[in-house]
Amino acid sequence: MSAQSQNPVRRITVTDIRARKGGDPLVCLTAYDAPTARLLDPHCDVLLVGDSVGMVVHGLPNTIPVTLEMMILHGQAVVRGAQRALVVVDMPFGSYEASPEQAFANAARVLRETGAQAVKVESGVYIADTIRYLVQRGVPVMAHVGLRPQAALAEGGFKAKGRSAAERDRVLDEARSADAAGAFAIVVEGVAEDLATEITRAVSVPTIGIGASAQCDGQILVTPDMLGLFDWTPRFVKRYADLKGLTEDAVKAYAEDVRARRFPGPDEVYRITGA
Ligand code: KIV
Repeated sequence: MSAQSQNPVRRITVTDIRARKGGDPLVCLTAYDAPTARLLDPHCDVLLVGDSVGMVVHGLPNTIPVTLEMMILHGQAVVRGAQRALVVVDMPFGSYEASPEQAFANAARVLRETGAQAVKVESGVYIADTIRYLVQRGVPVMAHVGLRPQAALAEGGFKAKGRSAAERDRVLDEARSADAAGAFAIVVEGVAEDLATEITRAVSVPTIGIGASAQCDGQILVTPDMLGLFDWTPRFVKRYADLKGLTEDAVKAYAEDVRARRFPGPDEVYRITGA
């Protein structure tokens, strides 16, 4: 049986994503489990299994403790739920920075064990050689520049980038070097609109913005943030739903029903007849 007959929906490829530079904006969201991936898939070009999973699913304070095993487990679930979108899995802190060889061994494991189509790395300029090494060996790489959450410990928190001329130049260098090294797309996080414009003009591949204005070639958000699951969200997030309010109302109604013996009611009880 061919791959096409097993999955009649054509999966978006990294070549498709690259071809969208300057075209219709790319729609991207994070996903961490199969049922959510199934809901997002028809509407999205890219589903990112972000290491934000550590914070929004596992309740961690930052992404540093996220492991390769966690990413593989969530990556497998998302690949099961997504038929059409390109699935990208984040390489977690400590899984790619030591050497290109370390990065290749771990990225190959991610692709082999999840069935995802690409990996993402947070890309200081020093990571460009690793991106090149991975791409030359058949690993499609999405880069991530600007605010890099895995640098939160070193930088004392999550801070927007590009406040000084030196910092602007550094972010531009990160993007240019990732492009030159062969990344197929670049996430640009937490930069002002003029810097996002400059980066988007400077690179040959699509930029995907998060807190980086509509000047990018596409957008990504952390899905639980845009669905309104938390009290607090960063300023750049638009809340498209109030999942927190809906969940609280539903759980309160359930608790009241159970306490009043209204649930289960006649419609929710098995009646076994003629046994
Ligand atoms: O981990 C993540 O969810 C990400 C997005 C913020 C782009 O890297």
